[in-house]
Amino acid sequence: METIISASFLSADILHLADELKRVRECGADMVHYDVMDGIFVPNISFGIPVLKAISKETDLFIDVHLMIENPLLYIMDFAGAGADMITFHLESRSDPFRTIKAIHEKGIKAGIAIKPNTPARAVLPFLDEVENILVMTVEPGFGGQGYIHEMTPKIQEVRKMMGDRNIYLQVDGGINGETTKIARNAGANLLVAGSYLFSAPDMKKAVYDMRQEEAET
Ligand code: DX5
Ligand code: ZN
Repeated sequence: METIISASFLSADILHLADELKRVRECGADMVHYDVMDGIFVPNISFGIPVLKAISKETDLFIDVHLMIENPLLYIMDFAGAGADMITFHLESRSDPFRTIKAIHEKGIKAGIAIKPNTPARAVLPFLDEVENILVMTVEPGFGGQGYIHEMTPKIQEVRKMMGDRNIYLQVDGGINGETTKIARNAGANLLVAGSYLFSAPDMKKAVYDMRQEEAET
């Protein structure tokens, strides 16, 4: 199974985003993971629509937008218009999931659903044939640099089992590093988000390489 690596810009150097985009590309990551937080759905506020617009103008890397906001449906038009290639929103948010998925697809981009650590795997069941990405959070959403919650590994396995041979992403986000990459991959994840691990690595290229090495070894 091919592993896709998405670099989370929450840990990027905000003053030098253009350089960070180049670095991510040169180091071999596949996607940019763009975290949006509204201070209500999660106790933190990150970046929004204008910054996404600037980033998407600057790069041709695939932009994987993760909405941690209370009412995602209200903002699908804006984020799609600002250059998102995929929008993933939380099932715990207040928006109707089917309407939100439809709104994302109407913009011609990929749609994903996300679940927080306390939400059971079975919550994704009704959407298996509706989305291109299922995100299992491996930390409580809101902050970069937290530790991988090991109790999430059986949940990744459970979602992988439910997905069967559907050709969609099983994404994990939170605490992914050289070690936990292997655990998440073995459990069935094929789209790995890494923030602090990649951006604080002394050598990002080696960090990406190491994530792929785990792939070769398994
Ligand atoms: C957390 C965000 C993550 C975050 C991951 O709520 O959704 O994307 O950037 O950061 P690390 O990889 O440092 O755990
Ligand atoms: Zn994220």
